[in-house]
Amino acid sequence: MSNLLPGRAIGTPYERLDGELKVKGTAPYAYEQPVQNPLYLYPVLSTIARGAVERVETAAAEAIDGVFTVLTSETTPRLEDPSDRELAVLQDNAIGYRGQIVAAVLAESPEIAREAAAAVTVTYTEEPFSAQLRADHPELYAPEELNAGTPTDSSEGDVDAAFDTAALKIDQTYSTPAEHNNPLEPHATVAQWDGAVLTLWDSTQGVHAVKGTLAQVLGLEEEQVHVIAPHVGGGFGSKGMPHVHVVMAALAAQVTDGRPVKFPVSRQHMYTLTSHRTPTLQRIRLGAADDGRLTAMSLDIVEHTSRIKEFAEQTPAPFRMMYAAPNRSTTTRLAPLDIPVPSWMRAPGECPGMFGPEVAMDELAAAAGLDPIELRRRNEPEVDPETGNPWSSRHLLACFDLGADRFGWDRRVTRPRSVQEDGWLVGLGTASAVYPFMRQPSNTARIRYEQDGIYSVQIGAADIGTGAWTALTQIAADALDVPIDRIRLGIGDTAFPAASVAGGSSGTASWGGTIIAAARAFRADHGEHPSPGAQTEANAPEDPEAENLALYSFGAHFAEVRISSDTGEIRVPRMLGVFSAGRIINPRTARSQFLGAMTMGLGMALHEQSVLDPRFGIFVNHDLAEYHIPTNADVLDMEALWIEDVDEHAGPLGARGIGEIGIVGSAAAIANAAYNASGIRVRDLPLTPDKFL
Ligand code: MOS
Repeated sequence: MSNLLPGRAIGTPYERLDGELKVKGTAPYAYEQPVQNPLYLYPVLSTIARGAVERVETAAAEAIDGVFTVLTSETTPRLEDPSDRELAVLQDNAIGYRGQIVAAVLAESPEIAREAAAAVTVTYTEEPFSAQLRADHPELYAPEELNAGTPTDSSEGDVDAAFDTAALKIDQTYSTPAEHNNPLEPHATVAQWDGAVLTLWDSTQGVHAVKGTLAQVLGLEEEQVHVIAPHVGGGFGSKGMPHVHVVMAALAAQVTDGRPVKFPVSRQHMYTLTSHRTPTLQRIRLGAADDGRLTAMSLDIVEHTSRIKEFAEQTPAPFRMMYAAPNRSTTTRLAPLDIPVPSWMRAPGECPGMFGPEVAMDELAAAAGLDPIELRRRNEPEVDPETGNPWSSRHLLACFDLGADRFGWDRRVTRPRSVQEDGWLVGLGTASAVYPFMRQPSNTARIRYEQDGIYSVQIGAADIGTGAWTALTQIAADALDVPIDRIRLGIGDTAFPAASVAGGSSGTASWGGTIIAAARAFRADHGEHPSPGAQTEANAPEDPEAENLALYSFGAHFAEVRISSDTGEIRVPRMLGVFSAGRIINPRTARSQFLGAMTMGLGMALHEQSVLDPRFGIFVNHDLAEYHIPTNADVLDMEALWIEDVDEHAGPLGARGIGEIGIVGSAAAIANAAYNASGIRVRDLPLTPDKFL
């Protein structure tokens, strides 16, 4: 399509424009914002999972030198809209989970606040609670719909009948554990009231999302809330919507006579206050003919949610569209538990939702005596099986072909537990990756010509460490047909036009498409030689064609696994991901995104697991000493490649997004390699050494 923006800066591997600031430690993050005379907030968290606060004894804390006040449900200002029980902090005495805020100390230093919090005494009335996910949980229910508007259940044909008569059958249950987002920069909010105007310096993936939610709960006009987030040290979804600490900081700053309040959420407190990935139980049935062609496929999912707020992941989404089969069904049921509120974590839904299915495909390949790539080739759908829509661009098999060649897939020995080297069992595995392109329509960009060839380009986007700042500058430069040093990009501030959240891998493509629209409008308004001060705003372009297309990115993961036959120690010496994600704006930052997501996939495969103790309703391993993520010693030869794939159906940018697809399927590839190495099929993540003994 001729609408495509030609690339000059686009496609060039520029270094991050914000890299030097970050490396030198001068890029200001939320907590570091230089505000005058702040108070520091430290929360007191509930030690029961369900019930009510009976009494909060604050006198001892308030007697400590430097304590400003201790807020309780009696002294905390009221919210206008307390209906979101995750955000309705200190509005009543009800306890919905262990680790909920039951009081908050404001003090002259973080150390005093923390000491005083320990001096607060809380007594409770306890009620029975439930904190264990089970497939037969007595309160299981079907949510009205899943996130992103995904239907809860789906059905086509007659799965039971087709499965009964299938020549080849897989019927297994897989599980993924709860996990926690651990961005390098913990959540932090600085709140300050100036009369009726609230300013928040917040570590967030979307300043406008914070503004909208805070205006709603506080009963303010949106103009009364100003949110600023120039630099953000990661989020992975947990900063995609404001959590309770943001509301807490805003309410606390109402009692300080205008002094700002800084609420740095500690790493430990993030394990209850700022969300987690829901665990999943996935019963999968695959029925196939002798030649491996699927005739029946079903996925029945059980997950947990918090009783105080529903969160229903779109876990079955990739299963529904990935492979062709005439008879298909999916169901999703939730167990409401008395636990912290789950939310987004990198590729929410798709990531856990591809683990079971991609391991099941490996099991089917073994049952059919087929190479796992050949099995996927035989089940490649011509159109989206769920909607019947044609693919905008489906290059899954091209990813497998390139990956197989580069990885040396032909060296894989089909029979498991066949290769031993120096006491290590060695195996290779593969799995598919997929992620939808969720173009966000509610975006606006502003372009102003300053002088001397300089253009200001403003949009309330966020760079959460992805390189979006750099990529958007490249896009703006090409859209205005000027060198990148002529662009002054403004993001991370609600003073700029409204933009969608840096989430769903949609940011750069959605914001970038809007910047292109604004640049085209600017040229139409002001020509090639604008006067200083010339300015144009434009909204995201309409794209009616996209509604009738299935827009997805695809990929293929390859992993080599070595397992010690003595100790079960498991290592991943090689990982390769090959992706088809539309146009790549900046190859350097894109590769980092893919590798970062694959590293997170390695963590999902081998390490990550939030252990919920059902006796107490608490995640017991709530810090980085006990919640393990991959370190340098775990990440060995890892590489990401992509195939040329400018998606002409993905707007003038031709890009679909790269943030999340790198994690989807990666843990399955490792589990499949572990089976090839050991002959032991592990269906429950993570792949800890005990499972191979
Ligand atoms: Mo990502 S979990 O959509 O921020």
